[in-house]
Amino acid sequence: MYPLDWTGNHFLDPALVRDLIDRLAKTDWDPTRRTGRNAPDLLEAISQFYEVDPSWIGLVPGSAAGIDAFIRSRPGAPIVDVVPNFHQAHTTARRDLRSYTAVPLALGADVTAAVRPHRGSGAILTMASPSNPFGSQIPMETIAELARDWDGFVLLDEAYADFAPATAMRLLADHPNLFISRTFSKAWGLADLRLGFIVGRSLETTGSQDYLACLGPDRVATWVARELLRHPLPILRSIEATLEMRENMTRRLRELAFLTVIDSDTNYVTVRCSGASAVVGDLRLRGLQVKQLSTLRGWPADWPDGIRASVCPSPLLDQLIAGLAAFDGQ
Ligand SMILES: Cc1ncc(COP(=O)(O)O)c(C=O)c1O
Repeated sequence: MYPLDWTGNHFLDPALVRDLIDRLAKTDWDPTRRTGRNAPDLLEAISQFYEVDPSWIGLVPGSAAGIDAFIRSRPGAPIVDVVPNFHQAHTTARRDLRSYTAVPLALGADVTAAVRPHRGSGAILTMASPSNPFGSQIPMETIAELARDWDGFVLLDEAYADFAPATAMRLLADHPNLFISRTFSKAWGLADLRLGFIVGRSLETTGSQDYLACLGPDRVATWVARELLRHPLPILRSIEATLEMRENMTRRLRELAFLTVIDSDTNYVTVRCSGASAVVGDLRLRGLQVKQLSTLRGWPADWPDGIRASVCPSPLLDQLIAGLAAFDGQ
């Protein structure tokens, strides 16, 4: 079964990462000593690659852990979560008995208007941009406006921003309440090494950094990420291949009249269609696993259903299109 529901990098050879781990193993690295924490050389590499101040960065073992720790750093704050979203804000809220409000945001709806009624309690506003599953990035002016008007922290999850045209990192200097979560699990291909970071200019002064520091990722993750950031060509090429194939995939999906294809800024493409569960079942028989939208947590019952499929190499895309074509005109 090929996992077209997997949101990692389908254009990266895992041997690249394995070779880097081998190289680390051949250095005088001593795994019996704790050396990963603080990792100034990784902070410097991230700072140079993404053009952010290294003192604004908190390293975390993946963005799930980062989002969790960041929310814990504001124990009294309610959580306002723009959904559908990655589960972590909801999971943390439920576990810690926190006040939690889900704000459903339909495709194309105005996010500023949707969250406006929830201002006034100093809540943490959590949302992903580009979003999962729609895949669209919120315009930078809108993010700036949201951060300016919001009376609490804004935690923007940019897990897929390496595939998108922009990042909100350049807004951080002007918005001390804005924090961005990034991960090395997607474009950078390090999902099993668990590495990400939260970046914000007041991470230190608000005390949130104290909640992240104890999570400091391990030496293997920090070393591999530093090497990739210093020599990013294979990653950049895999992103380029993804974007090229995304265009191709979008064009071919648009030829199928029963689908409504949503423009994507990520490494997956989401389509709306009727009979989504039959489509998912049929694709599974053809060896392709895709994500059905209505099975996502919090998916409103009255929203149109559809599927999300990862951007994948050519032969698999051919199989996906052939599987979907069987439903066209039915
Ligand atoms: C929007 C979003 N944020 C965060 C994550 C989690 O990533 P990580 O592996 O860094 O915990 C995912 C993974 O599916 C995701 O889709």
